[in-house]
Amino acid sequence: MNHLFADTANLEEIIEANNLGAIQGVTTNPSIIAKEPRGNFDNLIYGLAEYCGSEKLSLSVEVFATEYEQIVRQASEIYEKFSGICPDLYVKIPVGFEELKAIKVCSRKGIRVNATICYSEQQLQLCASAGAKYVSLFYCRLRQHGGDVAKAIKRTKNYIKYNNLDTKLICGSIRTQQDVSDAWDLGADIVTTGLNVIKEMVVHPKTKESYDGFNKDFAAWIS
Ligand code: E4P
Repeated sequence: MNHLFADTANLEEIIEANNLGAIQGVTTNPSIIAKEPRGNFDNLIYGLAEYCGSEKLSLSVEVFATEYEQIVRQASEIYEKFSGICPDLYVKIPVGFEELKAIKVCSRKGIRVNATICYSEQQLQLCASAGAKYVSLFYCRLRQHGGDVAKAIKRTKNYIKYNNLDTKLICGSIRTQQDVSDAWDLGADIVTTGLNVIKEMVVHPKTKESYDGFNKDFAAWIS
C-alpha cells in the first residue's frame, strides 16, 4: 500500500485534504494539538473522530501521559471514548521501556497502537513485535541527525514480513513532496505530512503553463 495521511489536528485542513481525494487517514501528536486554539482535548478529538469516522479515515491520537500506568489508562480512555465514532482509531504511544510495556498490554487488550517517535530500525522492530499495528519513523528528523532512512525502512519492512507481523510502517516528519515520494519508494506503507506538502504535490509550474496555453488556443478557436 502507498497511503497518504494528513499530519494535522486542524479540521479545516483535514477536510481540504480529504476533498482532494488525497488522504486515507490523519495523524496528530501533542505538538500538533498545541497548534490549535487552546480548548478541551476531548472536544477537539471528538470533532476529528466524528469527521474521520464519517469519511472512513484512519485517525491517530497520541497519549500525553508519561508513566506506564497512566499511559495504559489514557490509551484505554481514548480508545473507549472515540473508537465507536471512528472505527479506524489508533492510539499513538511513543517508544521507550515503560512505553513498550504499555504497547504490549494495550495491543493485547485490542487497542490498535501507532508506536511513534521511532528513529531506529531497532525501535521500529521492537514496537512491531510488541503488537503495534502502525510503527512511525521520524524520517526527516532522523535524516537531519545523519541517520540512514533507507536502511531503517527497508530492514523494518523485511523484519515485519519475515516475522509475519500485522504492522504497517508510517513515515512521519516529512517536509517536502520529494520526501513523500522517496519514503514510498523506499517501502513506507503510509506517509503522513502537512496540508502544505499535500498541496505542493498537486501543482507544477509547467502544468499551469500548458493549461493556460490550451485555454488560450481554444478560446481563440471557439470565439
Ligand atoms: C507523525 O505523526 C509525527 O508525529 C510527525 O510527523 C512529527 O514530525 P515533525 O514534528 O518532525 O514534523
